[in-house]
Amino acid sequence: MKQETTRIAPDQVAAQLEFCRKIHALNETRPQSRLALVDTYGCQQNEADSERIRGYLAQMGYGFTQNEDEAGVIVLNTCAIRAHAEDRVLGNVGALVHVKRRRPDQILCLCGCMAQEDHVAEKIRRSYRHVDLVFGPHALWRFPELLWRVMSRRGRVFDHSEEPGSIAEGIPVVRQGGVKAWVSIMYGCNNFCSYCIVPYVRGRERSREPEAVLDEIRALAAAGYRDITLLGQNVNSYGRDLDGGMDFAGLLRAANEIPGEFLLRFMTSHPKDASQALFETMARCEKVAPVFHLPFQAGSTRVLAAMNRRYTREGYLDKVRALRAQIPDVVLTSDVIVGFPGETAGEFEETMSLIEEVRFDALFTFIYSPRKGTPAAELPDPMDRAEKLAEFQRLVAVQDKISEEKHAAYIGRTVRCLVDGADEKGLTARTPGNRLVRLAGDESLIGRFVPVTITGANKWSLFGEAAQ
Ligand code: 5AD
Ligand code: SF4
Repeated sequence: MKQETTRIAPDQVAAQLEFCRKIHALNETRPQSRLALVDTYGCQQNEADSERIRGYLAQMGYGFTQNEDEAGVIVLNTCAIRAHAEDRVLGNVGALVHVKRRRPDQILCLCGCMAQEDHVAEKIRRSYRHVDLVFGPHALWRFPELLWRVMSRRGRVFDHSEEPGSIAEGIPVVRQGGVKAWVSIMYGCNNFCSYCIVPYVRGRERSREPEAVLDEIRALAAAGYRDITLLGQNVNSYGRDLDGGMDFAGLLRAANEIPGEFLLRFMTSHPKDASQALFETMARCEKVAPVFHLPFQAGSTRVLAAMNRRYTREGYLDKVRALRAQIPDVVLTSDVIVGFPGETAGEFEETMSLIEEVRFDALFTFIYSPRKGTPAAELPDPMDRAEKLAEFQRLVAVQDKISEEKHAAYIGRTVRCLVDGADEKGLTARTPGNRLVRLAGDESLIGRFVPVTITGANKWSLFGEAAQ
């Protein structure tokens, strides 16, 4: 069933830019620092949101710093996916009380998924009184107005009311990725996997209009971005809430037509919606990178049902076969959860055997973390943490070996790579499948696609030389 998505009217976004101007003007009259620090936790969606927060801050006249002592405004863009992520944020928020003592005029903001959770917002209200502004993902588009309220009234502001979610176009962005850019194509999630907090904090699935997405990609390509990742919690259901009939495969085809030398990636895909039509489209579109992130979460059909994933082990394996039939050398990555409540030792072995059978190029491995308000958090969970950790370590060891073997198979090959940056060890580059390659060379190569001969590998990365 289609639901009405609230689209924020252009004049409402314009009104936010007016608040940016008011803050700019106010700051002209005050001695406070004009530097801001934006600290991002969690996934690429949060990175993309932080780019919009920076965009607004830049409109207010702020420059950026990494030094919390210099900052007039600090924004922590938080993640709620696991308890560990939340604990890290709360630890850092706690430590910032000392900075605030030294700089009482500093404004501390907490946003992102944690801020949307009522029990977290309550905790901040009661126990972290140095936090001035708390707002969830739904309120991001009105950040300037919220900050203005804090600045002009010197009171605390909380905005984390629940709503299905909206879409706002035209928010300015300051990108950080060098030659890489994120483009959100949709927001929210309708899947309600039983362990996951995301649908509760990011609202219902809603797609941006294709023209808005394509215009953004066109502008990025024209500006020289070379590696463009389309983002959504479940990109495969893109367009279901739109009238135009454009689905994700259609969007990829249209993006592939945009002139320029760039790669298109996307994440994340839900196996239940990853279709044959999508695999065929990927195989045909030369700009779409041969890489697929397809989280399987568990190897047992019973556990998958308890997770509300709506596919079976066999169904998942069929999708992998169909994908590899279209793109034989596709780089396949996945997410897996160990220790879901009630998962038996035998069911864990099914996860192990799935990993051995599929041989993923890389795997993101997580120990189950109960999230308040999700159905799985109510399930009996008799297994203790040490046992879960032992399983986790076994799984990681097997995957490390597979990753190492897969990387070793690149040695001797020459691969067209995008040089995307440099660090103290030299240049970094990415294969089309997004494997990290380290190579020596001049920084003038950054932003260029160059053939690289792979000379070495370990489980994390490849080592190569630019082939002339
Ligand atoms: N506990 C552990 N891992 C989780 N993930 C999501 N929710 C939880 C949770 N409660 C993992 C899933 C998802 C990835 C982004 O995080 O594997 O794909
Ligand atoms: Fe969470 Fe499942 Fe939605 Fe992914 S698809 S964000 S795991 S509910």
